[in-house]
Amino acid sequence: MAVLVTGGAGFIGSHTTVELLNSGREVVIIDDFSNSSPKTLDAIRKITGKDFKFYKMNYLDRKMLEKIFEENKIDAVMNFAGYKAVGESTQKPIEYYINNVSGALILLDTMRKYDVKKFVFSSSATVYGDPQVIPITEDCKTGGTTNPYGTTKLYIEQILKDIYASDKTWDIAILRYFNPVGAHESGLIGEEPKGRPNNLMPYIVRVAAGILDELSVFGNDYNTPDGTGVRDYIHVVDLAKGHIKALEKLDNEQTGLYIYNLGTGIGYSVLDMIKSFERATGKHVKYKIVERRPGDIAMCYADPKKAKEELGWTAEKSIHDMCKDSWNYIEKQIIL
Ligand code: WQD
Repeated sequence: MAVLVTGGAGFIGSHTTVELLNSGREVVIIDDFSNSSPKTLDAIRKITGKDFKFYKMNYLDRKMLEKIFEENKIDAVMNFAGYKAVGESTQKPIEYYINNVSGALILLDTMRKYDVKKFVFSSSATVYGDPQVIPITEDCKTGGTTNPYGTTKLYIEQILKDIYASDKTWDIAILRYFNPVGAHESGLIGEEPKGRPNNLMPYIVRVAAGILDELSVFGNDYNTPDGTGVRDYIHVVDLAKGHIKALEKLDNEQTGLYIYNLGTGIGYSVLDMIKSFERATGKHVKYKIVERRPGDIAMCYADPKKAKEELGWTAEKSIHDMCKDSWNYIEKQIIL
């Protein structure tokens, strides 16, 4: 029985596929390479020494999706196939709602047709909007998202809750990621945003590599220890391992709808990240303080207690590991 991984050539999807294969699971990947690269597939094979089936396709293609379920014995689906650039989503809301929400609906409808009801959804801490309570627990209020990307995650979570309420034979894990960063220690897979990076770590890495000139720090007048934005950065390998634990939960317990924050529980500011990166790599990161970025919040970090208690999962890698592994990836993939 195989796990279908949509967007499996992407940043989180590829790291999760490595952990799935390492844990002995059979995997089928679908990806259209709209935000990923074919080279990642061979990298996954090289890291794990294992193979998997791959179909180049867009998950909105219902006919192709049905072919996947006809040709493979799928018993669970992990959905990573979402557009995820906050800024871009404000420019292209229709594309984000079609790809993320319609795509999820077509996927879920096809799963129902083939009686496959085990589903792990890649959600995000953005569903909490500007959090009223810090650290954030899963029963904190959601809503008030400040961009279409975050709203697609909120909508899909609601769709999943409605599906489960209508049919308790569904078995669903909603995983709310905080800020995924880092790369596999091999340096063979990592984060490669197309064009100018939106996110902090890919930007820092490219400034350190001399690819970009200087980091703009978006505001230092927030109500935080040093005035810059505080986030809960989590190593992508820790995040991937959280998915394995979630799937084991779905395998071992009665059906249900489970929600977990996947974060470290530690908040780091932008200036903390710059200092940590320089300490971990010996590289210099040139930066300047500029205006706040519209839609940004001051502070966001998780209370990861529930995932520890119910999944037996906690993030293990340090901020030093996240910085070192991010730098190792770009050294191996982009500079050399
Ligand atoms: C982090 C901090 C910025 C860039 C978003 C999504 C989340 C997830 C990660 C997908 C903030 C500051 C950033 C820069 C800066 N998406 N910053 N200069 O906005 O917390 O989260 O991306 O996986 O769902 O909401 O992440 O990395 O963009 O910003 O000063 O050039 O770094 O202001 O304080 P964010 P980010």
